[in-house]
Amino acid sequence: MSTRHFLSLFDLTIDEYRALFERAGQIQAARERGERPNTLERRVLGMIFEKASTRTRLSFESGMAQLGGSAIFLSPRDTQLGRGEPIEDSARVMSRMVDAIMIRANDHGMVETFAANSRVPVINALTDLNHPCQLLADVYTYQRHRGSIAGKRVAWVGDGFNMCHSYINAARVFGFELTVAAPSGYEPATEVVEAAGDHVRLVESAEAAVEDADLVVTDVWASMGQEEERLRRLRDFQNYQINDEIMARANTDALFMHCLPAHRGEEVSASVIDGPKSVVWDEAEARMYTQQALVEFLILGEFPDDAG
Ligand code: CP
Ligand code: NVA
Repeated sequence: MSTRHFLSLFDLTIDEYRALFERAGQIQAARERGERPNTLERRVLGMIFEKASTRTRLSFESGMAQLGGSAIFLSPRDTQLGRGEPIEDSARVMSRMVDAIMIRANDHGMVETFAANSRVPVINALTDLNHPCQLLADVYTYQRHRGSIAGKRVAWVGDGFNMCHSYINAARVFGFELTVAAPSGYEPATEVVEAAGDHVRLVESAEAAVEDADLVVTDVWASMGQEEERLRRLRDFQNYQINDEIMARANTDALFMHCLPAHRGEEVSASVIDGPKSVVWDEAEARMYTQQALVEFLILGEFPDDAG
């Protein structure tokens, strides 16, 4: 069987996602009972980070250790990747020494080139195009709080960048209705929107996007690598903040999510992110359980039985 990768949400089937979320729930329950299954004993995950990270590094590294495996942090600054060794050669070498590799890259093409030359599964841990691992956590968290996300109304307010693209892809894969409100000039990529057909609708205002929403989501206004655009973005996004007034237009039991890190007073008010509708801490923790299930599946080729 050819090597399976996880470069976008389209790389798993809906049945595999069902099994992944069930397995993530088992791993979480086992941890809460104080048990540590050894399903990834002596397995090694390589982790390439071209950009900063708190949650992604910690959730993969701690997640491997908790299942009996280990992880190696590889920064381009300290490896030959940063000195111009071809991605193809790096992939050939690294994939002979580890069991899976996760990559956070500036350019999505880098991850695709790496995967095409890797003997072992490659996981996209954020690129300029998408952030599929975050969506595993978000959909799992929604399910645990409110049941299936299929048929629900989700509002994306803010930058039409990597996270927004993954929400658009998720609307197709998981069958929810997504409404996107992004300022002019910051809309999601046309090809991503068009491929989602009726699952996604673009509107102009935050108010219109959140009307009757079951879930409201946003992200930073200036992503990593866009720091020099920050002042312009602060101006362009000023009408796109999620605050109490905006949340009041959503359904009464609507949840708020944010992949984090967050900027209180910019894309979200403190009253919302620290308020009762916010599930951002569960969402962050869920990165670990969903990725543990993902790594088990990609390395072992199956979801283990409840080994907890
Ligand atoms: N949400 C997320 O990916 O966070 P980090 O940038 O801290 O990994
Ligand atoms: N859009 C953000 C997500 C961080 C997890 C970024 O790319 O910096």
